[in-house]
Amino acid sequence: MNIRTLDDLLAEEVTGRRVLVRADLNVPLDTQTGQITDDGRIRAVLPTLGALVQAGAKVVVCSHLGRPKGSPDPAFSLRPVAGRLGELLGAPVHFAEDTVGDSARSTVAGLADGQVALLENLRFNPGETSKDEAQRGAFADQLAALADAYVDDAFGAVHRRHASVYDVPARLPHVAGRLVLREVEVLGTLTGEPDRPYVVVLGGSKVSDKLAVIEALLPKVDRLLVGGGMCFTFLKAQGHEVGSSLLEEEMVETCRSLLERAGGKIMLPVDVVAADAFAPDAPHDTVRADGIPSKRVGLDIGPETVAGFAAALRGARTIFWNGPMGVFEMAAFAHGTRGVAEAIANADAFTVVGGGDSAAAVRALGLDEQAFSHISTGGGASLEYLEGKTLPGIAALEN
Ligand code: 3PG
Ligand code: MG
Repeated sequence: MNIRTLDDLLAEEVTGRRVLVRADLNVPLDTQTGQITDDGRIRAVLPTLGALVQAGAKVVVCSHLGRPKGSPDPAFSLRPVAGRLGELLGAPVHFAEDTVGDSARSTVAGLADGQVALLENLRFNPGETSKDEAQRGAFADQLAALADAYVDDAFGAVHRRHASVYDVPARLPHVAGRLVLREVEVLGTLTGEPDRPYVVVLGGSKVSDKLAVIEALLPKVDRLLVGGGMCFTFLKAQGHEVGSSLLEEEMVETCRSLLERAGGKIMLPVDVVAADAFAPDAPHDTVRADGIPSKRVGLDIGPETVAGFAAALRGARTIFWNGPMGVFEMAAFAHGTRGVAEAIANADAFTVVGGGDSAAAVRALGLDEQAFSHISTGGGASLEYLEGKTLPGIAALEN
C-alpha cells in the first residue's frame, strides 16, 4: 500500500503546525438524555491524537455525528463528544460552534502548541455529503484552509465519498492515522490468506445490506453462519414458514440461489426464539426454525443454534463477525448474540468483530474487549473492504 503514515508526518517537524484530523466520532447517544452510550469510537482515535499532542501540533479534529440534513441541528451537536474527548485526553478540548465559520477560524487561531480543538458536526454543511463535486470542493477548500496537514483516522467513514474524507486530502499533505492503518492491516489479513478454517458469522436485519459481502466471501470462507433478522429470508428460501418475522420477500430468490451455490457452507438456525410481539416483555418461547407459527415473530436464534454455531467456531482459526444474532437491546432476546460472541471470544483463532452494532453489542453485553483480536470501528466500511470495493477515503490517501 502506497500510503504515508502518521509516523512519516511526525518525522517531519509538526510542532506548531495545524493538523486536521478526520475522526469518526459518530457515537450512539441516548435519545432521552443525549448522553454518549458507547465511547468506543472516541477511545479508538486517542493513539493518533495523543501522538500529535505529544509532538506539539495544533490538533484540529473534525467528524460527523448522525445524519443531519446539511444544516445545524442541536440533536446532532458534537459538543458532548468534546467533553468526553477532553476527559479521555486529560486536557480540555476547545469546541468550535461551527465547522468552517468564524468560530472555527478563531478557535483554531487560538490554539497553543499541543492543544486540541473539535469542530462542530461536518454534516451541518451541505457541502460535506454533496454529490456535486464543485459544492463538495468549495467546502473542502474551507476545511483545508484551517490546517497545514491532514490525517485520516476515520475508518468508519472511509467508504463515503465526502468532502472531509475524499476532497480534503487532495488539498493538503495527507497521511493515514494509527487507527486507519491498523484496520486496513487487519482486514487485509482477512482478504489475503487467512488461517483455516475461516468462519464468518453474519447477522443484522437485512440480507440486502449483506448480499455483496456474502457473494464476495462465499468462495473464501469454510463456513458462513447466518443469524439475526436476515436469517428469516434464508429460511423462507428453504421453504419454511417464518410467521411475522422480518422478511425481504424480493430477496428470497437470491437467497435460494446463494444456498444452492454455497454447497453446504451456509449454516442457518435450527431453532428460534419467537415472541408474540416486538417488545421487551412479549411472551416468547423457542420453536423449530422450520415452522415458526404464523403471527409470531422470531427475535433471536435459539439455544440449539447457539450450540451448533459455537461448535463450528470452536475449531476455527480465523473468524469475522458482523451483525447481532437477535434483538440484543432487549434482554430476553440477547442470549443468541451473547452466546455467539462468547464462542468467538473463546476460540483459539484470529478474531475480528466488524463494526458499529456488533462492536456496541460486545460492550453493551459487558464482554471483555481484549478477548477479541480486533474490534473494528467501521461497520459499513469493513463490509465494503471485504467486498473488495475501492474505498474513497483510502484511495484519496494513496494519491
Ligand atoms: C457509521 O456509523 O456507519 C459511520 O460513522 C458512517 O456513518 P454513515 O453511515 O451515516 O455515513
Ligand atoms: Mg452506517
